[in-house]
Amino acid sequence: MKIFIAGATGAIGRYLLPRLTEAGHEVTAMTRSQNRMEQIRQAGAKPVVCDVFDRDHLKQAMVTAQPEIVIHQLTNLPQQIDPRRVEQALAQTNRLRTEGTEILMEAAKAAGTRRFIAQSVAFYYAPTGSLPATEDEQLYKNAPADFANIVHAVDQLEHTVLNTPGIDGTILRYGYFYGPGTAYAEDGSFTQEVRRRRMPIIGNGNGVFSFVHVEDAAIATILALNNKPGIYNIVDDEPAPIREWLPSYADMLNAPRPMRLPKLIGRLAAGRFGVYFMTEQRGASNKKAKEVLGWRPRYPSWRDGFRAALDTSTHRSSANNVSAIGVSS
Ligand SMILES: NC(=O)c1ccc[n+]([C@@H]2O[C@H](COP(=O)([O-])OP(=O)(O)OC[C@H]3O[C@@H](n4cnc5c(N)ncnc54)[C@H](OP(=O)(O)O)[C@@H]3O)[C@@H](O)[C@H]2O)c1
Repeated sequence: MKIFIAGATGAIGRYLLPRLTEAGHEVTAMTRSQNRMEQIRQAGAKPVVCDVFDRDHLKQAMVTAQPEIVIHQLTNLPQQIDPRRVEQALAQTNRLRTEGTEILMEAAKAAGTRRFIAQSVAFYYAPTGSLPATEDEQLYKNAPADFANIVHAVDQLEHTVLNTPGIDGTILRYGYFYGPGTAYAEDGSFTQEVRRRRMPIIGNGNGVFSFVHVEDAAIATILALNNKPGIYNIVDDEPAPIREWLPSYADMLNAPRPMRLPKLIGRLAAGRFGVYFMTEQRGASNKKAKEVLGWRPRYPSWRDGFRAALDTSTHRSSANNVSAIGVSS
């Protein structure tokens, strides 16, 4: 098939691109950087240098590529997010999710695309209801003002993708990415903070995280190409509270045990957003992705996945010969 990927050079795009071309798809991949064109070519795809906000140029590129499927993996996230300034950290990503998605969809429609698959997240479900959250449950639309705009941007992205006439829309609500190129890599920002004992557990630590290895997320995305459109949580089998997984992670790193902070002090250190994620957020269920997409994560639990990812990153750093795009298992 002819496929257009926006966000081909990001954490998941890097895994996705070579797998799509190896599977025989004709892929056009977008980047804003001339320097990344060669990496895209090496992964077997055709590069297009374009900013998603350059509406005319994007439409022209899309009409030339004539994709049957558009995959939207655009974010613009800093490697490290200060939870006290989360609105600022996600401002660019909010714009990509709202305005960027609309521009991409408009270009896709002009090119006669029939299917649009977009990245969303599995960690903005409202903190009520059964555990773990299923796809038919509400997002946290009445989240506190500190991060309400972030949830609204995710909601708007999903609405555009699922409600554009003539387009089969698929939303992949990925869990927290880990693996090479993410904050949880050997040299990732989160890992460094855990090593320095700067990542405390706040309050009861009951906030439940659903993780997914970027490689598993890429495989689920490929399965979505030909399967029923709709919303899918792409998360591992074992949602876990931070009071459980963070000490395990520190052990794997031979790092000191994480500190515990009472909620009040945690609020000063991590803001309302940080406290919410550490005490209230819900994990998500992958039942639908398994049943409908036939997805079987290679790392069903973060327990094995974290360890494998750390081994891979260590190996990579020492080998020091892996291109930014050509990441493979
Ligand atoms: N579910 C999750 O946990 C999740 C999801 C996403 C990201 N993250 C984390 O966030 C961190 C950064 O993510 P990332 O490495 O994917 O990088 P990123 O900086 O967020 O960029 C992602 C992709 O979006 C493209 N992009 C951004 N703005 C664009 C624009 N205006 N026009 C066209 N393309 C644009 C980038 O392309 P170019 O830069 O090549 O132009 C890149 O391919 C990582 O630690 C990652 O794990 C986590």
